[in-house]
Amino acid sequence: MNELSAPSRLPALLALLAALLLAACGQGGDGARPPLEGARIGGPFTLTDQTGAKVSDTDFAGRYRLIYFGFTYCPDVCPTDMQAIGAAMRRLEQSDPDRAARVQPIFISVDPERDDPATVRQFVSAFHPRFVGLTGSPEEIAGVARAYGVYYARQGDAASRDYLVDHSRMAVLMGPEGQPIVLLPHEQGPDAIVAELQRWVR
Ligand code: NI
Repeated sequence: MNELSAPSRLPALLALLAALLLAACGQGGDGARPPLEGARIGGPFTLTDQTGAKVSDTDFAGRYRLIYFGFTYCPDVCPTDMQAIGAAMRRLEQSDPDRAARVQPIFISVDPERDDPATVRQFVSAFHPRFVGLTGSPEEIAGVARAYGVYYARQGDAASRDYLVDHSRMAVLMGPEGQPIVLLPHEQGPDAIVAELQRWVR
């Protein structure tokens, strides 16, 4: 009597079905696994948004987060990347508004000394109306940058307010539970970003 009877096999089948369904939820449209699945990127944070309000990672629960780290005084790279992200969001809103609505674009400053909420507000509003711009104390920014594996360092005269910030050029898509999904090819322009959002945002 080694064979399982039909009734006792049923729970195992249901468990298998549930596992398959769960696996399907984490997949891209083509069944691939997210490249950053299981990567130690992200985590809890509390920062200040462009209106001066405290914002935590949990405030974005249920939404995909497109996160870009930079600084508003950046002469070229950050504005170019932010432009690409803003354009990608508008294109997705045109072609697939429901999917676009599930994505929250977020800018996080790596220049907390100069990027106060008002400065951040002016910056992010130039790229997309739904951009959330986050800044914080130097300690808070150091913490979130560490959690996301982002490098940044001030260049030039430390006593002057006229300096550059060398930083990782990173845009990452995080899932609705804050899990890392994929690094976005922002340097390839808006269409490349849209393609990744269509692939991974469900
Ligand atoms: Ni920059």
